[in-house]
Amino acid sequence: MQQILVIQSSARQSGSLSREYTATLTAKLQAQYPQAKVVIRDIGAQPVPHLDETLLGGWMKPADQQTQEERAAAARSDELVDELLASDVVVIGSPMYNFGITSTLKSWFDHVLRAGRTFKYTETGPVPLTPDRKVYVVTSRGGRHQGMPQDHQQPYITTALGFIGIKDVTFVHVEGQSMGDEEAGKGRAEADKALAELAA
Ligand SMILES: Cc1cc2nc3c(=O)[nH]c(=O)nc-3n(C[C@H](O)[C@H](O)[C@H](O)COP(=O)(O)O)c2cc1C
Repeated sequence: MQQILVIQSSARQSGSLSREYTATLTAKLQAQYPQAKVVIRDIGAQPVPHLDETLLGGWMKPADQQTQEERAAAARSDELVDELLASDVVVIGSPMYNFGITSTLKSWFDHVLRAGRTFKYTETGPVPLTPDRKVYVVTSRGGRHQGMPQDHQQPYITTALGFIGIKDVTFVHVEGQSMGDEEAGKGRAEADKALAELAA
């Protein structure tokens, strides 16, 4: 185990449940693998840019036709792909916003689901290029959505990671956080139990 990548996508720094539980899980992993380097990519605080025409030019144009801006945009994007590919374990903190992931996390996926790097197109359809690795996803939610049709977060993350070849994905949900103290406490207790079982 060389590197643990932590992606934080909550818009808030203080009071964030996904940050809190992601930090707890990362600390457990660090205790288990003390030699591993931890890389924190805080896209909540410093969002990665949305895809735009400049970046698409950097991805798609032949090198000798790219502008300096297109090359720079592609290099910034490459950094995110390289960081993912260099990490043995990834921990993603993912608040539910409007039934799905945050726009900042969607933007990260838009960079790392990259044709020619993490998957490729073939005549028989897309083929993943990313060697599998362990991914933990900590979701935080005001309500309860597990297994329900309005949950566009877990299915999206599972599909997006699976598309590039990452199948070993474990979710820890912190649910019910806007449902009053009792439900919030219950949601936290369930997440605590899930984390303790992971550690065991
Ligand atoms: C803009 C916004 C949209 C939200 N949408 C949902 C939602 O669709 N479903 C839900 O259960 N909770 C929703 N919530 C509540 C958050 O998921 C909850 O507060 C969670 O703890 C946020 O993650 P954080 O604590 O890491 O910041 C929303 C919160 C915000 C700020």
